[in-house]
Amino acid sequence: MLRITGYSDKYSAFPREEVKFYVNSEKNENYDVQIVRLIHGDTNPEGPGYKEEEIGAQCNKTYQGRNQRIHGGSYIVIPQDDRLNTTSFTLQAYIFPTTPEKGKQGILTKWNEKTKSGYGLFIDENSCLSVMIGDGAGQVMNLSSEKKLMAKVWYLVAASYDAETGKVKLYQEPCVTPTNGGLGMSLLHPADETTSFIEATNNLKPRANDAPFLMAACTLVDRAKRYIQGGHYKEAINPIELPEQTLTYNGKIDRPRLSKKALSKSEIESLARGYGGCTAELRSEVIGAWDFHANITKNIASTFIIDTTSNHLNGFVINLPCRGMTGYNWTADEMVYHHKPEEYGAIHFHDDDIDDARWEVDFTFTVPDLIRSGVYAARLRINGEDSPETEDFIPFVIKPPKGKTTSNLLFVLPTNSYMAYSNDNLGTNSVVAQLLAGKVPVLAASDLYLNEHREYGLSTYSKHSDGTGVAISSRLRPILNMRPKYRHWLSPSLWQLNADLHLTDWLEEKNIDFDVVTDEDLHIEGVDLLNRYRCVLTGSHPEYSSEKMLAAYESYQLNGGRWIYLGSDGFYWISEYHPDNSNIIEVRKGEAGTRAWTANPGEYNNAFDGKYGGMWRARGRIPSKVCGLTFTAYGFDVSSYYRREPDSKRPECSWIFEGVGEDEIIGDFGLVGGGAAGLELDRYDLDFGTPHNAYLLARSENHTNLMLQVNEEIHFSVRGFYGGGTENPMVRADMIYYKTPNDGALFAPGSLSWCGSLSYNNYNNNVSKILENAIRGFLKEGPLP
Ligand SMILES: [Fe+2]
Repeated sequence: MLRITGYSDKYSAFPREEVKFYVNSEKNENYDVQIVRLIHGDTNPEGPGYKEEEIGAQCNKTYQGRNQRIHGGSYIVIPQDDRLNTTSFTLQAYIFPTTPEKGKQGILTKWNEKTKSGYGLFIDENSCLSVMIGDGAGQVMNLSSEKKLMAKVWYLVAASYDAETGKVKLYQEPCVTPTNGGLGMSLLHPADETTSFIEATNNLKPRANDAPFLMAACTLVDRAKRYIQGGHYKEAINPIELPEQTLTYNGKIDRPRLSKKALSKSEIESLARGYGGCTAELRSEVIGAWDFHANITKNIASTFIIDTTSNHLNGFVINLPCRGMTGYNWTADEMVYHHKPEEYGAIHFHDDDIDDARWEVDFTFTVPDLIRSGVYAARLRINGEDSPETEDFIPFVIKPPKGKTTSNLLFVLPTNSYMAYSNDNLGTNSVVAQLLAGKVPVLAASDLYLNEHREYGLSTYSKHSDGTGVAISSRLRPILNMRPKYRHWLSPSLWQLNADLHLTDWLEEKNIDFDVVTDEDLHIEGVDLLNRYRCVLTGSHPEYSSEKMLAAYESYQLNGGRWIYLGSDGFYWISEYHPDNSNIIEVRKGEAGTRAWTANPGEYNNAFDGKYGGMWRARGRIPSKVCGLTFTAYGFDVSSYYRREPDSKRPECSWIFEGVGEDEIIGDFGLVGGGAAGLELDRYDLDFGTPHNAYLLARSENHTNLMLQVNEEIHFSVRGFYGGGTENPMVRADMIYYKTPNDGALFAPGSLSWCGSLSYNNYNNNVSKILENAIRGFLKEGPLP
């Protein structure tokens, strides 16, 4: 099992900037740090093997290891305030539990689970609603609704306690409409199986405590020495100390309220509808009435939670649960949360959400003034051993000096896509992994570690523990599949970072110098960054793009930029950065596309920018309009090869094939499935966005029947037409070249496995030749042939 993991505070740094590193030594073992430049990460014995260059740095030394934990699971914290330590109370909310059967979960709690003090509304071990009151001296009153809550059903729930009479009341009432449950049931009969009103008398008073008021969890430790401030917590003007949370809840909460007296049923209902509409007398009894839709603007990226009463007991969401979710009153008349915020008052909490591991800094690397731009890593080793258990790498990019270039060629590392795939658990969790790969998924030590450490968070290829999709990914946590030496479960292929090192290694072998930046840098700086370069390369799988990134590639091409789009399935999913924190991205997987989940009804729009999420295609930006090609097929067993097409022999194009015979088979070799056309393929399509003057240079063939057409283009599921490589003409990779205004151009081979063939035969092969011709041709001054 893995003994060391870590992450950094940034993915890319300029010379003289600092990169901070956070390290967990599982068993408190000491470890050595060595900064390295990553050259080649593929350990496949048929290739050149792992290559790195050690870099001198002050931080290269031995450190005392310490165990650092992640506290996953989203919740809301309302910081401790004496007004929350009420003796009589009513707790109420609409809830939509998604795993009522998973055991005890906090809903609304002023409760310390260690000292058993305070009060709170919970789901108990028997899936029933319950209220607890604790005197902090060992005595706990626990009243259960004795009726099980059902998954994916909205309820109005409440608990009241009158300290004078000792009366405790518990209400559990389903409120089901034809639309509000999304894909949950609406015909609830007999409803009394899950409806409950329970009354009891109790002399135990809740002990005032220092726990914050939590929603979707309860407190284990009042103050955990971890703080929020700045970034996506911009409303936290002063640092706010977090508790250690426990008993995290899965599901939605809408319109939670806390009052300082035992309210009647009609008062509860009136307050549920809206604090503003209540009588002055009732309002005076309310301590907090939190409306999650109160700060929906054109987006709901905010982590701020607003108390609409004059007490202003505002708070924050922790670990980024999903906002902009359909509420108890969603009618489906509007599909966009900011068109009708009052029907989107729900937040969906998950017990495996994470926004930031919040570890303490272990060491810092100051990037030297004069150092080549490239892909680097902090290499961590226990006892100097390079085994998977005792070694971890924390990769980062060193950029050229700010506003400058140190080469005419730029490689944009697709870090947005790395984040989308962060800690994907398809190999251990997906029922189709073996069928997709055509073989038993080969797991790495880190896959097994993640399987046991769900708090490390998931990828947008995962589902939360309650079955809903993971829409948010943060890089402020160890991302164990973004590592050199890592073999993705789609073995024998590599994926993302490690696959992109095939390209950087080849560039070094060919003595082609290059600068490196990340998607995030491009998103922040835009086309000005690209305009500084004669030629730009994108990686093996730049699948996830922000709107600003698309705009930058489009204008670069119009400005005369020359772009080599390597790989496949590029510019496919809409993925936006958190507006206040580019460490975090959001992807709402829509109604079609190659994906692990589908957003629930009415929840297609991004929280982070308010716009429609899912495939760029759905917003009129099919990838072929950006890069000439569009994703057409995928399959993960073996890769195939290309044959040249007539356009490749035209005088405008033949320079790309210099040194390659007219009938030569291209790329029937390589480290990724044995061919240059494999894993995921793009086609050119003059009916779907490909520029009309694009040249078709080569086309792949002879794909297996595991290579299947993408689902967004399949309207009827039929055999004999939409099948695999042997029968479906859409299963192919198209290699294209087109010219753009002002002497610009694009070359793209249309396959994800392309770069895995570059090193074959000591880097001397026709895939290598074609790419070298294209790059050197694009770097030349003057018009293209
Ligand atoms: Fe992908």
